[in-house]
Amino acid sequence: MTATPPPLHGPAFEADPHPAYRWLREHEPVHRVDLPGGAWAWVVTRHEDARAVLADPDMRKDPLLGDATWFAAGLGLPYDHRDSLRRSMVNVDAPDHTRLRRVAGGAFTPRRVRELEASAERVTSALIDALVASPDPDLVRDLAYPLPIAIICDILGVPEADRPEFHRRAAVIDSASFEEIEAIAETTDWFDAYLGSLVDARLAAPHDDLLGDLVRAHRDGDLTRDEVTSTAFLLLVAGHETTVALIGNTLLTLLRHPEQRERIRADRSLLGPAIEESLRLESPLQNATWRFPAHPTTVGGVRLEAGEPVLVSLLAAGRDAERYEQPDAFVPDRGASHLSFGHGAHFCIGAQLARMEARVAVGAVLDRLPGLRAAVPESALRWWPSMIMHGLFALPVAFDRDTAG
Ligand code: HEM
Repeated sequence: MTATPPPLHGPAFEADPHPAYRWLREHEPVHRVDLPGGAWAWVVTRHEDARAVLADPDMRKDPLLGDATWFAAGLGLPYDHRDSLRRSMVNVDAPDHTRLRRVAGGAFTPRRVRELEASAERVTSALIDALVASPDPDLVRDLAYPLPIAIICDILGVPEADRPEFHRRAAVIDSASFEEIEAIAETTDWFDAYLGSLVDARLAAPHDDLLGDLVRAHRDGDLTRDEVTSTAFLLLVAGHETTVALIGNTLLTLLRHPEQRERIRADRSLLGPAIEESLRLESPLQNATWRFPAHPTTVGGVRLEAGEPVLVSLLAAGRDAERYEQPDAFVPDRGASHLSFGHGAHFCIGAQLARMEARVAVGAVLDRLPGLRAAVPESALRWWPSMIMHGLFALPVAFDRDTAG
């Protein structure tokens, strides 16, 4: 590696971002990076600093506190600038954050997650039936991608007839990158109108689902209508691509380590820990969402001014040698905690749901696809071109068709 900071964009970085983050951890752990549109941000890469920033209530989430350059670059993406999709827990601070999180929390209780597990098993089973019959099976396209969106439709109560269109539109939002802001504006309009129509339907007829809970809270005066639609939209944005990446990254990790895969196949108690280890090693979210210091502050010895945008690199923190022994090794029974679901007040509300979906999907692959192997060399795999996500576009595989099923 060079003596100057490596770029955090471009094909080499996307194919393997770990060397760049290692360089930053070792040489410039709080690094100023240039972003598209003339903006810049601080990137925090060491585990200890990352945890401290995530836990700090003075690291605010409200994008309106961001400095003018950041805001002008449109980095909050268009949907962040309209109240009907922006007023969600990820964009606000206490006390609004506490109120919004409490109302949505009902959708993620252990009982609700157990109910959704039955649905995840049904959907997974049908997806693997189709995958087994496919001439060019792909674990991301055929399993990791469609499963989480089906579960989000369950949570939001999207009627069956609307789901194909919902899936199609979600795919446009998922492809959003810094360069594609205009392309997703029309889709954002669609979600704005569609989620509004679901809310109207719940107002007319009560339902026992998340949207029903949110609409009841709106009726009781605890949530505004914008907060209801924004929360529904956040669940789509926060819960889809992340879970796709977790399932895809875990399956890739198991393809890279066939001996561990066989251990986990033989001893299913290792599956949960292996998913945690995959979260640490290949964090689906490369960076946590934007933060802005309320006052001038110091992180890792570097002074940050109020309003300067801060990204916490969860991917970098997961491989910090100061925190983990042999940080690049996949050790399913390591039992170490990680920051890949965040930390502090904004800790991922869907973490248990995501873990459940990954257990169901990966468990089914282990059960039903004997002789699993990659169908292309790893150098042919394409990763999302993003500093935010860390996930695969596709994962073509082969398996022993005679015994699959
Ligand atoms: C593997 C899958 C997932 C990963 C890696 C992940 C990761 C994260 C992380 C790191 C945060 C904190 C962001 C920050 O502090 O800046 C977060 C927050 C959040 N996640 Fe997840 N997430 C996943 C799945 C889900 C799912 C399935 C849902 C819901 C359907 C969900 C809903 C949310 C919400 C609503 C927040 C905001 C919480 C708040 O601001 O209080 N996530 N997630």
